[in-house]
Amino acid sequence: MDRVWRIVGIVSPNPLEILVKFKQWFACLVVLSGAVLPAWATESASHPDPAMELDRMDQRTPVPLSPHMALHQKQNMRDHLEAIQAIIAGLAKQDFPAIEAAAARMGFSKEMEGMCQRMGAGAPGFSDRAIKFHKTADEIAVYARKKDEKGVLDSLNRTLAQCVSCHATYRQQIVAAGTSSTLIERLKSSE
Ligand code: HEC
Repeated sequence: MDRVWRIVGIVSPNPLEILVKFKQWFACLVVLSGAVLPAWATESASHPDPAMELDRMDQRTPVPLSPHMALHQKQNMRDHLEAIQAIIAGLAKQDFPAIEAAAARMGFSKEMEGMCQRMGAGAPGFSDRAIKFHKTADEIAVYARKKDEKGVLDSLNRTLAQCVSCHATYRQQIVAAGTSSTLIERLKSSE
């Protein structure tokens, strides 16, 4: 016990000396926190969490998604990009069946509709845009079946315009699975 008293600077432990030392240590602590805390706060304010900083800078409407849903959405997106490339390749070779097959990868279906509704449950307007996009992609397949090159190009352009405008409007926001919007997702999926 004597060692403890010595460490805190007390020679003969009596209540008065303990009180005086306690006050000295407390004053020290106040001065230190006054000097260190503001410096630490400024430091962390100038270096905020990079993910939070991006979140604050990106002004697009957030689409709240659980990590699982966000990954799934990005996989779909990369598949859309591949489908677009396959359509262009088909156009270059005048291979209309290939164009039709590629467009079908982005086409509308009841399953696709359900998925878009779950993805967009927390972002007003997102699902409607997504569904409209899939229906526009279906038009590419219709023109490909007719071997109508101009029609394919026109509908491809209208489809791409929807990729562009959705990306300009929305961004992913990763939220913990089970938060309000992911609960809405689950409620909707169980309907
Ligand atoms: C209804 C909205 C919507 C439409 C339509 C849409 N996207 Fe996306 N896409 C998104 C969102 C949201 C993201 C996530 C972007 C972010 O968080 O910055 C995304 C991300 C992407 C990514 C990045 C994937 C990754 O791995 O990071 C690609 C590529 C992409 N989209 C391609 C396309 C293409 C090609 C089309 C059209 C053929 C398309 N998207 C149509 C909403 C959409």
